[in-house]
Amino acid sequence: MPFYTRLGQIPKKRHVQFRRPDGRLYCEELFGTEGFVGPTSTMYHIHPPTQVTGWKTLYTCAPEYVETEVMRMRHVRTSPLKPHGDAITGRVILFGNADCEMAVCVPAEQMNYFYKNGQGDECLFIHFGSGTCWTMFGTLKFGPKDYIVIPKGTIYKIEFDPHLGPDGKPDPKMPFGKYLLIETVNGSHIQPPPRYISKSTAQFLEHSPYCERDLRIPELPLTFDEPGQYEVRIKARNCVHSYVYDYHPLDIVGWDGCYYPYIFNIDDFAPITGKLHMPPPIHQTFEAHNFVICSFCPRMLDWHPQAVKVPYNHSNLDSDEVLYYVEGNFGSRKGIEVGSLTAHPQGIPHGPHPGTVEPSLEATYTGELAVMCDTFRPLFPTKAALGLDDPKYPASWQGEHFPLAAAHLADGRPIGSINGHTREGILPPLPDNAKITDTWT
Ligand SMILES: [Fe+2]
Repeated sequence: MPFYTRLGQIPKKRHVQFRRPDGRLYCEELFGTEGFVGPTSTMYHIHPPTQVTGWKTLYTCAPEYVETEVMRMRHVRTSPLKPHGDAITGRVILFGNADCEMAVCVPAEQMNYFYKNGQGDECLFIHFGSGTCWTMFGTLKFGPKDYIVIPKGTIYKIEFDPHLGPDGKPDPKMPFGKYLLIETVNGSHIQPPPRYISKSTAQFLEHSPYCERDLRIPELPLTFDEPGQYEVRIKARNCVHSYVYDYHPLDIVGWDGCYYPYIFNIDDFAPITGKLHMPPPIHQTFEAHNFVICSFCPRMLDWHPQAVKVPYNHSNLDSDEVLYYVEGNFGSRKGIEVGSLTAHPQGIPHGPHPGTVEPSLEATYTGELAVMCDTFRPLFPTKAALGLDDPKYPASWQGEHFPLAAAHLADGRPIGSINGHTREGILPPLPDNAKITDTWT
């Protein structure tokens, strides 16, 4: 979607005769958005894309939200999630509203069908694992910390590599890895923020934290001309339907346009830093109608001699904020761990945890990594989220915020914070003669 590209064979002009080696015509399909005035791609199939031999509704996928009238901070641990299902059926929706759904997936098995999300764009953040995403636009190899943006209507299949644990053996907790999913349910498209892109050339501008060179677009192989019975499961109308094709659904010989899936690795995000605290929009990576996706990446901290390094208390008066913790040492914030999700609703402010401001003043760098999704309408949890919920989290701001010697944990490790969510590890090492006070127990 970000820029024009092409792959495979296409005729010299659109909508002209384009013939297979046997003389028959290829089947042109316009893959268009927003009533033919949004981004499009034009593709050429070996077989008519309209030919299907079976169709039925399989199951509903409408999320059931609970506690829709309750406003409170939430901390949801996803590490207890056990592997189940495949890359589609294993998705566990945790939060959502009328604009987007957020899910975490720990697949237990490979997909044995193709999938098409016919009602929204998908953004997968691969936390653990690697593999291949076979799509009608070509092949995308993916690995850890990749965002995979798959626009609405794309037929694809995800094939994971076996995921190995730290000991190099198959990981029973995540046999195929784990990913975070954010998808649109309001008909809008996930795209780079328009302010990053030139209105006259569609080129990424100099102030953008990433550009075309950072995006990995579909590559060969592209075309699979194989007869058989191929199931394509299609999500539409909050149900998953099963359609059967009697040819391989990835039968495109060529396409061109601005509408296609692509990958962006979060480590390629070049953070924007400032003399004083920079607000969350500088971390913005993607957006769709009524929500944004941001990348909080390792970076230098503010360099004003009197800068307060941790974020100020803030009321997101118009947005709910969900943060997914990817990497870093969160040990000083009891309970926050890799794979945790925190949700901070509009309506009440949030900010630094007790004792984190003073100790952060000498910090020069943060090494943490997190993905944030801010929604402009209230988010609701699902029953699955409540099952993973930490009920003590809303009270975690209680305590002395400015202790006189609140500098380090009892064992000497420094305390830090980012975006109001306390972490350790962003401070320089303690001087040998420093006074050690544990502010957390
Ligand atoms: Fe925040």
